[in-house]
Amino acid sequence: MVNRTLLQTLADGEFHSGEALGEILGVSRAAVWKQLQKLEEIGIPLNSVKGRGYRLQDAVELLDQAFLRSQLDAAIWQEVSVALVTGSTNEDVQHWFAGHAGRCVFFAEKQNAGRGRRGRQWVSPFARNLYFSLGWPFENGVAGVQGLSLAVGLAIYRVLKCHCQAPVALKWPNDILVNEAKLGGILLELNGVMLDACNVVIGIGLNLDIRHSDQEAIGQPATGLRQQGCKVSRAQLALELVQSLEHVLQGFSVSGFAPFAEEWNAANGFHGREVRLILPSSEVTGICQGVNEKGELCILVKGVAQYFNAGEVSLRLADVT
Ligand code: BTN
Repeated sequence: MVNRTLLQTLADGEFHSGEALGEILGVSRAAVWKQLQKLEEIGIPLNSVKGRGYRLQDAVELLDQAFLRSQLDAAIWQEVSVALVTGSTNEDVQHWFAGHAGRCVFFAEKQNAGRGRRGRQWVSPFARNLYFSLGWPFENGVAGVQGLSLAVGLAIYRVLKCHCQAPVALKWPNDILVNEAKLGGILLELNGVMLDACNVVIGIGLNLDIRHSDQEAIGQPATGLRQQGCKVSRAQLALELVQSLEHVLQGFSVSGFAPFAEEWNAANGFHGREVRLILPSSEVTGICQGVNEKGELCILVKGVAQYFNAGEVSLRLADVT
């Protein structure tokens, strides 16, 4: 287990001598060294300089589980958890559902097997972005979650608009963009596909600080809030996102997507643009009109409106390969 106090001490990005760290942790210098090795083993990069000590490569603001628990409504959230490292927070929620009922939220500072849509990986370096998943039960099975990923996007969009001057926009069905670069993504997974009830895992990755070294692994244009000149506390943003999602999901559980359609269309980054919709075995090109009350995308194909369901599809601007 990684020592949280050690990480919190190093979070300032300044050098700390082995002796000073030992005093803070109440352990020997040898024990400190073992702990520091553990950090490196789990992929948290450190600098060590003789005579100065150890530091994290970058200062970080860690998430605070106690703060989140104190601010979120315990009557709604049965579990609120922040891990330093996990495989995938979507997986953590799946495990939780195996033994619990209710709603939960799992954050992680780093994911070793972060999952993106269509089998892609989600690049998840330590404490630079937000990676979290909500577990939320719905009563009407698969039919009751139509348009859910769009409503989730809108909940995130609302928070970002409060903090950020950049032209944040939504892309049907699951993406958050700034100037066509990916700022965030949503991965929904249904647990037990049933007619009357299902548990949904809502995974969200939001980029706060995307480096050149991340770009290559991401494999598509990506940006972070920091790159957009938006400085906001990670811990505060994490809280506001969960609160906004809580609000939207409660509304969605009662009335579905319809009440959100107009606001979603106002946030649609591809409105009026020529788009290419890549379906499993065909492609459609036309003008993006927006979504209907079910969250289906309307594309004007040779002047005729056609509606599409979100599934294993990919939407691109027509002039982008
Ligand atoms: C996408 O491909 O656009 C969706 C990305 C979703 C990533 C998030 S990060 C938190 C959660 N855990 C995962 O493994 N994936 C989602």
